[in-house]
Amino acid sequence: MNFTPKENPLILGIESSCDETAAAVIRGRELLSDEIASSAATQAKFGGVVPEIASRAHAEAVDEVVARALKNAGVKKEELDAVAVTYGAGLLGALLVGLSFAKGFAYGLGIPLIGVDHIRGHLAAAYLEDVSLEPPFITLLASGGHTAVLYTERADRFRVLGGTLDDAAGEAFDKVARVLSLPYPGGPHVEALAREGKAVVPMPKMLKGHGGYDFSYSGLKTAVINYVHTKEQRGETWSRADVAASFQSAALDILVQKTVEGARETCASVVTAGGGVIANGYLREKLTAACAEAGLKLVLPSKKHCTDNAAMIASEGLVQYRLGNFSPLTLNAEASIPLVRQH
Ligand code: KG4
Ligand code: ZN
Repeated sequence: MNFTPKENPLILGIESSCDETAAAVIRGRELLSDEIASSAATQAKFGGVVPEIASRAHAEAVDEVVARALKNAGVKKEELDAVAVTYGAGLLGALLVGLSFAKGFAYGLGIPLIGVDHIRGHLAAAYLEDVSLEPPFITLLASGGHTAVLYTERADRFRVLGGTLDDAAGEAFDKVARVLSLPYPGGPHVEALAREGKAVVPMPKMLKGHGGYDFSYSGLKTAVINYVHTKEQRGETWSRADVAASFQSAALDILVQKTVEGARETCASVVTAGGGVIANGYLREKLTAACAEAGLKLVLPSKKHCTDNAAMIASEGLVQYRLGNFSPLTLNAEASIPLVRQH
């Protein structure tokens, strides 16, 4: 392939790892279009994501979503410089739809294919928010599958300071939502309910060990389940909103605290964040206040770019493009990818 890297390449990003079919176009870090089609409403009826339904929905939507992304960006496909696509982690069938589409696109146009790790995409969302953002910085990652505080030394070099030992923060939100009879995905519903309550229900400590960064969400989830069951068995009244508020503050305050500690320990002056849980308004307010108090610059992706989207995949695609990291057309989908790959 004849390839000359450009300063501000036009990159098409495609995401299909779960229930969102998304496509976006960036020129350098400038976001030109950002499209999404979701099968979440269909999935909600089943209380979670049904892989087969997700794959079918992607297959039906991908063509149209990509066409819309190109049209709204005012770009012809022949002008693209690369195609970035999520190759993992996620549902294999769902990933394969986006990946196969992207391969065909890249091959047909004779441009590079860039396979993107979905979580790296979440981490790269902040680059679109602030075009001058460069490492080093501390990132709070909180999604449905991961919760960690990371130190980004270079665009492609991370150190995990610590994270969850069991459930991820988003997973805990989804499980607690079920206990509170709220629909899937639980996070936004728990957040809305928590706004009507007070954090007065005692919750267990989140931190494991002394002074470290590792936390456990499994104990917190069990505490919520036990509280609700005990109240119901005794026939006592209890407030769903107070439980939601108590759970939310216990689950999120620790993340804010550990992020600021991470910045202090590594002498980083900038903090970023990524992942679905970062769309939580309570967390955003607390993180903003804590960073301001500690004199840290906070680059927070918009709520739309915290939950799954293709702009973040294009953004990580740009990081890889600049490093010259391209993928072969034999690239396969991967159901799981370690947070930091050992080379
Ligand atoms: O990053 P994401 O969209 O998908 C993964 O890569 O995992 O994260 C989804 C997770 C779900 O567990 C969802 O309940 C949670 O993020 N989430 C929230 C909020 N919005 C989404 N959790 C708390 N508050 C929210 N507003
Ligand atoms: Zn995600």
